[in-house]
Amino acid sequence: MFLADVMDYREAARRRLPRFLFDYIDGGAFAETTLRDNIDRLQAVRLRQRVLTGADSVSLEANLLGRKMAMPVALGPVGMAGLNARRGEVQAAAAAEAAGVPFCLSTVGACTLEEVAAGVSTSPWFQLYVIRDRGFMREMIARALAVGCDTLFLTVDMPAPGPRYRDKRSGLSGGSGLARRISRLTQAAARPAWAWDVGLLGGPHTIGHVASALGAAAGIDDYWAWMARNFDASVTWDDAEEIRALWPGRMVIKGVLDVEDAREAARRGFDGLVVSNHGGRQLDGTLASIDALGPIARAVGDQMTVLMDGGVRSGLDVLRALACGADGVLLGRAWVYGLGAGGQRGVAEVLALIEAEMRVAMTLLGVERIDQVGPNLLVPRGAAAEET
Ligand SMILES: Cc1cc2nc3c(=O)[nH]c(=O)nc-3n(C[C@H](O)[C@H](O)[C@H](O)COP(=O)(O)O)c2cc1C
Repeated sequence: MFLADVMDYREAARRRLPRFLFDYIDGGAFAETTLRDNIDRLQAVRLRQRVLTGADSVSLEANLLGRKMAMPVALGPVGMAGLNARRGEVQAAAAAEAAGVPFCLSTVGACTLEEVAAGVSTSPWFQLYVIRDRGFMREMIARALAVGCDTLFLTVDMPAPGPRYRDKRSGLSGGSGLARRISRLTQAAARPAWAWDVGLLGGPHTIGHVASALGAAAGIDDYWAWMARNFDASVTWDDAEEIRALWPGRMVIKGVLDVEDAREAARRGFDGLVVSNHGGRQLDGTLASIDALGPIARAVGDQMTVLMDGGVRSGLDVLRALACGADGVLLGRAWVYGLGAGGQRGVAEVLALIEAEMRVAMTLLGVERIDQVGPNLLVPRGAAAEET
């Protein structure tokens, strides 16, 4: 199969991964309405084609959260991503570093901060969940600092995990019975390339940082039970500020959709936020990220860095998000499809594709620098209708 766009990497990942892993990446919560909306609403953003602008020396360079990057794109935190290829987060971080963009490791990655940091020379960003076990959280913060991490993403849209029915159907979650274990083994056996690369050679098969908290009982079912015990719905803005006090670097609130919440994050002095609905994996039927972005960027964009994620599947989508007010974009599934399809090479190819698509789109938009991309590039609402 020749791979042209990110959705081809999705298909290649589907063919290579056991069903329970592909469905875990690909799926969303409840009826997956928001997952679909994220993509559809983003692709509905209409940009102004300009001609004869002489835009032939395009630069994608950007500076976000104190870091110079090749383009305003980073690999967002994805739990268990490392199971998609052997020691997957290490491979993804290496691809990100080579492409000149940051990699953000999830609290629940398969690889630890130390393992990822040892594989690259630029420290990863780190994403923290608010966990009932505050000792675990403090330990995570200390470990992130020890490997030189300068930016912490506090994910706040998961006070409780959203119900993901594909995971129940595939046998990834929903109980610890023998039938589910046999089903997962059967699914793995049906994907020999993955079974060899990850199943046989890719151990330990643990959720990196959580392994020490789980002790001897470190299987996937134990992990779900730990998640259910530890996600903390009692968390407030004051708790977020307490975490801020422990973190000397930059801190970004991830998972904001409401303007009032964005204003609160700005009032409390956080450095940035990510407009996000967790890729449609939490509250189904809420706003698509792109629809939440504009009002938030207008409200707080002059006080903090505004990132966005959800539904980004091309370099053109990145520009759509920037035109709607984002300073930068996190990739979620897009990079994990690359990892599942072809490990480090797959992630590198996805990033090269996004970069190439951004370059072409900027030429067609008639702009040469990222700071020229903003609402000025949006087709005014109603314009298409007026002219027909
Ligand atoms: C399989 C999967 C696991 C995820 N795990 C995490 C996580 O551990 N922490 C987090 O903050 N966000 C997590 N996210 C959300 C992503 O960071 C991001 O918000 C989302 O994937 C963006 O949507 P997109 O995949 O449509 O681009 C996860 C997303 C996926 C698809």
